[in-house]
Amino acid sequence: MKILLTGASGFVGRNLTRVLGAHGHDVRPVSRRHGFDMSRMLAPADWLSCLDGIGSIDAVVNAAGIIGETRSQRFDLLHTRAPVALFEACRQAGVRRVVQISALGADDTAFSRYHLSKREADQALLQLHAQGCVLRPALIYGRGGTSAALLLRVAALPLVPALEAGAQALQPVHISDVVATVLRALTGPAPPRELDIVGPQTVSLADWMQTLRAAQGLPKARLLRVPYALAWAGSWLLRPLHPLAAPDNLRMLRQGYRADGRAIEQFLGRPLLPPQPHLQFEDASILGRRP
Ligand SMILES: NC(=O)c1ccc[n+]([C@@H]2O[C@H](COP(=O)([O-])OP(=O)(O)OC[C@H]3O[C@@H](n4cnc5c(N)ncnc54)[C@H](OP(=O)(O)O)[C@@H]3O)[C@@H](O)[C@H]2O)c1
Repeated sequence: MKILLTGASGFVGRNLTRVLGAHGHDVRPVSRRHGFDMSRMLAPADWLSCLDGIGSIDAVVNAAGIIGETRSQRFDLLHTRAPVALFEACRQAGVRRVVQISALGADDTAFSRYHLSKREADQALLQLHAQGCVLRPALIYGRGGTSAALLLRVAALPLVPALEAGAQALQPVHISDVVATVLRALTGPAPPRELDIVGPQTVSLADWMQTLRAAQGLPKARLLRVPYALAWAGSWLLRPLHPLAAPDNLRMLRQGYRADGRAIEQFLGRPLLPPQPHLQFEDASILGRRP
């Protein structure tokens, strides 16, 4: 298949590129690193040239996104307007399958601009495209992830900061399972319309930090309980330094997100990887070593 992949230079995109290539697919990458700034691709016509007209590209995966805004990187442009223009171009060009990487929580409960901007594009895809598929991953871990690497560094501190008592629920999912899901959604007989990609275990943030310590050969550490009000003030102070520090991200962390993992297991026809320390340093290439 000829597949146009946005976000090709990112964590998910790099892993997808490798695995799709290994399966004999031809990937056309889109990202700023590949010369495309999606914040300027807001009309279907901007995408039609990438799609090479009618019937040339078989499938599209939208794996571009940001976790926080800067002056030039805006949620409304990158999560909503550019993807909606791309989906409309896909409809016009007769692209057979379109897979949108959304995020767990981009549903009726969404309150953050991150989730709301993704949900708007998700809904547009489901309306525009009969073979449109919206995948909502939980926190993705594995070698090469930006937020995964940041969490590893925080977990390695002598005193590990944890929001409130660190009881927030997470269902971390390994990058190899995310890639396997996209691959099946692209090539399997019937892609799901919507699917949450969650790991098989729900862990607290506090337990996840201890797993990240174990992955680095470090003993369990005491947690430094950070009251919400203090974290909130800190996020406003740190916000100009890093988009991840946005107060909305703190609210999402506090909220915690969970979903029933049976649907994804059914779709893949196998259990997903339970979180184990050594998997932090494995990327999607382990798919080739799995039964
Ligand atoms: N990682 C997770 O835990 C997680 C969990 C749930 C959902 N997701 C979603 O999954 C998708 C991929 O996540 P990821 O972890 O791979 O993120 P990532 O590593 O930060 O990659 C983001 C990708 O988006 C591209 N991008 C950003 N701004 C762009 C622009 N203006 N024009 C063109 N491309 C742009 C980046 O390329 P350039 O910088 O080269 O432009 C990069 O390829 C995102 O939509 C994210 O919200 C991720």
